[in-house]
Amino acid sequence: MSEQQSTEAVASARVTASVNRKRTGAELGAEEIEAVVADFVAGRIPDYQMSAWLATVACRGMSVAEVHSLTRAYTIGGEALDFSGLDAPVIDKHSTGGVGDTTTLIVVPVVAACGGVVAKMTGRALGFAGGTLDKLESISGLRSYLSADEVVPMLRKVGMVITGQSRNLTPGDGATYALRDVTGTVESVPLIAASIISKKVAVRADGLVLDIKTGAGALIPDRELALELTHTMRDLATSFGLSCRAVLSDMSQPLSPAVGNALEIKQALAVLRGERIPGLSDLCATISRLMLQSVDVDLADADADAKVERVLQDGSAYEMFLRWAVAQGADRQVLEHPERLPSAKLRREIRATGSGWVVGVEPRAIGNATLLVGAGRLRYGAALDYGSGVVLHRRVADRVERGDIVAELHYDSGDVDGAAALIESAFTLGDEVPPVPPAVHQVF
Ligand code: URA
Repeated sequence: MSEQQSTEAVASARVTASVNRKRTGAELGAEEIEAVVADFVAGRIPDYQMSAWLATVACRGMSVAEVHSLTRAYTIGGEALDFSGLDAPVIDKHSTGGVGDTTTLIVVPVVAACGGVVAKMTGRALGFAGGTLDKLESISGLRSYLSADEVVPMLRKVGMVITGQSRNLTPGDGATYALRDVTGTVESVPLIAASIISKKVAVRADGLVLDIKTGAGALIPDRELALELTHTMRDLATSFGLSCRAVLSDMSQPLSPAVGNALEIKQALAVLRGERIPGLSDLCATISRLMLQSVDVDLADADADAKVERVLQDGSAYEMFLRWAVAQGADRQVLEHPERLPSAKLRREIRATGSGWVVGVEPRAIGNATLLVGAGRLRYGAALDYGSGVVLHRRVADRVERGDIVAELHYDSGDVDGAAALIESAFTLGDEVPPVPPAVHQVF
């Protein structure tokens, strides 16, 4: 047996023993977890053994100590960011994602315009849920990935950065995430918590706000489980010394009326220019307030809210977005004339098939409809159609009459009939006006 083969044999025996211990209810030790993750990152154990380990963890759950160890293990060997050259506290936020979740594009410039320094690492769309990185790439010329040593100069120059997440920050998460995506092990509270918080530990901002979604379009739809995820993530972040606030927010219907990459950039620009969108504006106001308070614990709610409202009304949040986007390579003229952003050539109107009150707009159906016209990926690495997507004309608790336009599909190609059918099926009408779901369920 070669030296490499014997190292691999030891690693395989170790991961199998760990699977057996976890399966029979033992608590895994920090060294054991670190060894499994390190072996996988180094390619000493095959995908199928790591999949078994992840699946066992997803089924059996993890203790607080185990999740902490896994989070640390994910960061080992990563290139942490260094903000020590800045003389202001740095703020970060994270959302568990969903449909029409345009919040990052709004709250980052809002908080930066209020004087906060915001460093936001972001990712691509996942399944039916959109990703900020893809939305940014609909702005031609904008550099969506900055290197680690460009981040601090950009923060100094502009006060904010939004950039694609480097896999090098958390090698363990980078290696296991893709495997989880294809082995049904994404929807696990400890695995999600360790994955997200490891990236936040690597960025190590001074203040962090977590936006955990609940409802049909959320990663964890169930309210109780989403609440458990909120507490797990917040406690975990605190145990790593991060100052963390959290919000449990609604994803029972799409958050923004615009769903699709350039459509959501246009929506964000409109909100930054002072337009108020029910749901989206409310959540953005709460997240912005918590972001400011995450690094200024004495800031009263009313004072934070007033600052946020002021920068939206006086144009400084909008100006901040433009300054930042231009600093990362975008053409100011295009952003000042959003009609020059990518736009689909064709439209299909979706009309109400009956009359009544909208009691539901199923977010996964809307998200899946956008995939069918190229706004998201059905195959790994597929190119996107940045102008395509859905514009919703009705939300829950709105009145519709038969034949009213409830949504509009923007497309150039794809399965247009399939997408239109999905959008039609997303709308449920009832005879009584339902309660309007609050954008924010709870703040922690
Ligand atoms: N986003 C992440 O970064 N990790 C998860 O596990 C789920 C969503």
